[in-house]
Amino acid sequence: MSLAPAWLRERRMLPDRWRDEHTRTLIAEDRAGESIGAGAMWTSRVHPDRYSVDLVVAPGHRRAGIATALLAALADLQPAPKPFIWGAAENDPAHEFVATLDARTIQRSPLNTFHTSRAVRLRPHDDVAPAAAVSRVALEQAWADMYEWTHADWHPMGPDARGALVEDLWDEIDPHLSSIAISATGAIDAVLLVFIDGGRPVVAGETVSRDTTAGTRLLEGSVRRTFDQLAERWVAETLLDAHETDPHFAPLFEALGPVTRWHRIVEFRP
Ligand SMILES: CC(C)(COP(=O)(O)OP(=O)(O)OC[C@H]1O[C@@H](n2cnc3c(N)ncnc32)[C@H](O)[C@@H]1OP(=O)(O)O)[C@@H](O)C(=O)NCCC(=O)NCCS
Repeated sequence: MSLAPAWLRERRMLPDRWRDEHTRTLIAEDRAGESIGAGAMWTSRVHPDRYSVDLVVAPGHRRAGIATALLAALADLQPAPKPFIWGAAENDPAHEFVATLDARTIQRSPLNTFHTSRAVRLRPHDDVAPAAAVSRVALEQAWADMYEWTHADWHPMGPDARGALVEDLWDEIDPHLSSIAISATGAIDAVLLVFIDGGRPVVAGETVSRDTTAGTRLLEGSVRRTFDQLAERWVAETLLDAHETDPHFAPLFEALGPVTRWHRIVEFRP
């Protein structure tokens, strides 16, 4: 049973100084000492360059400047000034709030549910194999290489973040549903992983380097195989963890979707 008020449940509120001095949480109270708002900021081990932030204000107290005050108070607690990052569905009213902070859109990701039956719109590729065909170390290396370049331009990884990135990877994916593209020399050219956490699976990946030859074609074959595998296991729907800026994945969104709902990530300085 939770003792938190209903409006605070399901928000990402970490205990103050949970991991380090960058994890800070504040509660706003009214004159009677009742909690009416909360704000938290933290840094990610993979992306230490910005503060992630979450704010929530009790419905009866909104539009009274409380979130603005919480954010200013969090900003004052920063051990080192960094931009803030936050994201939500594009039509979430909280985007109106961050717009007042001159928030800048840095990324968009599809929010749609994708039907695995759409795989028939994509062509198979002979270089594509199950990810289980390579070692765990090789797969983790390919994943980290892929992740690093696909985030470099908008949300760079920290210098020592590769270990943190792949720490739990092997336990979260299904290597038989996941696909890789392997070149004639045995190098992994593309990686497409299926993350399983009990809900709908999440499919994520790209080519292993930015300038892989025929990258879109390799990714098309990888998505084709993985969606076929999911469909064979009677998984009708999946989510994509992909970005509008992914040069080889984004061209496939139209065939798989089209995308009608986007998650928008913004950056701002409070
Ligand atoms: C988003 C949220 C935190 C804003 O809290 P708040 O205390 O109402 O925000 P403020 O009063 O400081 O708003 C400052 C300005 O932001 C804009 N704004 C805030 N909420 C808005 C909304 N729902 N629609 C349009 N503009 C909004 C307004 O310009 C407002 O100034 P104004 O009231 O003088 O017009 C609150 O609506 C909430 O708890 N939402 C649910 C949780 C959530 O989505 N959190 C994510 C936020 S990072």
